[in-house]
Amino acid sequence: MGSSTFLSILFFHFLLLTLSHATTFDIVNRCPYTVWAAAIPGGGRQLDTNQTWSLTINPRNTSARIWPRTNCSFDSSGHGHCLTGDCSGLLACQAYGSPPDTIAEYATFQNKDFFDISVVDGFNVPMEIGPDTGSCPGGRPSRCSADLVELCPKELKVPGGCNSPCNVFKTNEYCCDNERCTPNEYSNFFRRNCPDTYSGLNNNQPSPFTCPHGTNYTVVFCP
Ligand SMILES: *[C@@H]1O[C@H](CO)[C@@H](O)[C@H](O)[C@H]1NC(C)=O
Ligand SMILES: *[C@@H]1O[C@H](CO)[C@@H](O)[C@H](O)[C@H]1NC(C)=O
Ligand SMILES: *[C@@H]1O[C@H](CO)[C@@H](O)[C@H](O)[C@H]1NC(C)=O
Ligand SMILES: *[C@@H]1O[C@H](CO)[C@@H](O)[C@H](O)[C@H]1NC(C)=O
Repeated sequence: MGSSTFLSILFFHFLLLTLSHATTFDIVNRCPYTVWAAAIPGGGRQLDTNQTWSLTINPRNTSARIWPRTNCSFDSSGHGHCLTGDCSGLLACQAYGSPPDTIAEYATFQNKDFFDISVVDGFNVPMEIGPDTGSCPGGRPSRCSADLVELCPKELKVPGGCNSPCNVFKTNEYCCDNERCTPNEYSNFFRRNCPDTYSGLNNNQPSPFTCPHGTNYTVVFCP
């Protein structure tokens, strides 16, 4: 390939990157208690009741995960521990949190965004992710607003959270590793109480939670 062809390809890619949209997530804590929000990419920060963290991710990052942490304490250098959702003891997370934690997932692919609340790693805080009004006609939020810590079956209960059956029992039946997995009392528990989530059971069906790329989102703890 000639160097001018190479340069024009390079320039074209540069143009694509500069034209692609950065996605902004406004992360709001409506819980009556403090939540330490975490995001990959993004890091993390403490959110007292009614505080918002406006997080814009790099357009090169085609996926993101946002989750709540509870009962944390950090020193002034940002090292410490959280009861749920802890990420190796860092305030600004560099890795995913330890379950159980409710998760907002985001991915963009071929100019389309996909998002949802997932309880595949269990639950710690009620949560919602939805498109900002105007930029996604017909778009609806994904949410799990029930208090699954309170309702949690005792086999799955841990301090501050409700674990997933896969994390507790670690068997094929509960982890759904094979394509066809049958609903069980635990998957029914999560589905019944939080129907507007990614349940981990119908992963062959297209997600109903999609928007055009360029949409911004609001993530709410305790919607
Ligand atoms: C949070 O905001 C709501 C709605 O605006 C308000 O009713 C409530 O008093 C606020 N809570 C705190 C702790 O600021
Ligand atoms: C986000 O993008 C940066 C720059 O391309 C990359 O280094 C990083 O690994 C990405 N992070 C994630 C979580 O995708
Ligand atoms: C977490 O902190 C809250 C106060 O913010 C407290 O009420 C609760 O008991 C704590 N949970 C645990 C399991 O320690
Ligand atoms: C998304 O948020 C960014 C930063 O706040 C803003 O510049 C952009 O216009 C927003 N996009 C839409 C579609 O509202």
